[in-house]
Amino acid sequence: MKILSLFTKILHYLPGEISHNLGLKSLKILDTIGLLRLVVNTEDFSKSSELNDKRINSFFKIKNRLGIAAGLDKNGEYISCLAALGVGFIELGTVTPLPQDGNRKPRLFRNRLEKSLLNRLGFNNKGVDYLVDRLRKNTSNVTLGISIGKNFDTPNESAHLDYEICMKKVYEYSDYIAVNISSPNTEGLRELSGRSYLDFLLKNLKTLQSQLSEEHGYKPLFLKISPDESNENLNYICESVLRHDIDGIICTNTTINHKDAQGKGGLSGKPLKEISTLKLKFVKNIVGNEVPIIASGGVMSQVDYEEKISSGASLVQVYTGLIFEGPQLISNILNSKST
Ligand SMILES: Cc1cc2nc3c(=O)[nH]c(=O)nc-3n(C[C@H](O)[C@H](O)[C@H](O)COP(=O)(O)O)c2cc1C
Repeated sequence: MKILSLFTKILHYLPGEISHNLGLKSLKILDTIGLLRLVVNTEDFSKSSELNDKRINSFFKIKNRLGIAAGLDKNGEYISCLAALGVGFIELGTVTPLPQDGNRKPRLFRNRLEKSLLNRLGFNNKGVDYLVDRLRKNTSNVTLGISIGKNFDTPNESAHLDYEICMKKVYEYSDYIAVNISSPNTEGLRELSGRSYLDFLLKNLKTLQSQLSEEHGYKPLFLKISPDESNENLNYICESVLRHDIDGIICTNTTINHKDAQGKGGLSGKPLKEISTLKLKFVKNIVGNEVPIIASGGVMSQVDYEEKISSGASLVQVYTGLIFEGPQLISNILNSKST
């Protein structure tokens, strides 16, 4: 693991997106030639205790509470090598019905002092059909969430159709579906969490879930929220989640409340943690134990992981922490006695 983390630190001297892709491709090569499993001893992680969460356990089997957040493997191309790092689950996507390039480059920036990433990728992905093809070929049994979104040029009035297309196609391959209405880099996306649309969207997805579950079994729906929601709107979102019997909430996506020198985009990593945890606590207070929460936002260490659990999270995801600390972060968290 230490070798991998050293390699990660070397990658930091390359531009953001290039180092990102190079890191993932190297990991995949190590996995394909069998070296990754020699470097990472996931046997050590068996110390991590069983998940004592009835709701999550009723949804799917999970090896441990630590997962990889959406956006790292948008197209399902790195499932095996990411699973080999020992995480309990991976959230793939966000995927859209049609492939799209995303925003103009450069669009991913690393701030090593702050330990943060600024991204304005804009849902660059190869489209849902490509992802489904990868899922058909997947041989790993790691728990998979699949994050779904809308194409940038689909008007908000018909956004629900994009979510429905993606959900229908990925449903049978997923352990849970993450409904992403909170990425800041697709114009107008966050408006879907407003009063006028959210109820309509959740109602439609719930109906579709019930239809699809007849053939493929019950797959829970998780709603991923923004840390920039006012408490008033968060209150409304939670009520809507409870009203429509949505199965879980992911707290949170990236924030646009920053003054990063690179300009517009969603900020993740260390500076996100405080607001993201505050929103997690706020949501937990409303939904209690009825609706499990996956925490995402600024987990850079084992201590941060513990803080998310003690703030009410059932499961925890990492993204930016993995970029800065490397795969060592996973073993640091999972080897801890309290995990
Ligand atoms: C480069 C990058 C791409 C991301 N892409 C997505 C995405 O496609 N869908 C999504 O729901 N979240 C996406 N996220 C947000 C992460 O899933 C995560 O919620 C957020 O970064 C906060 O966690 P962190 O501080 O551990 O990175 C992305 C984040 C980054 C840094």
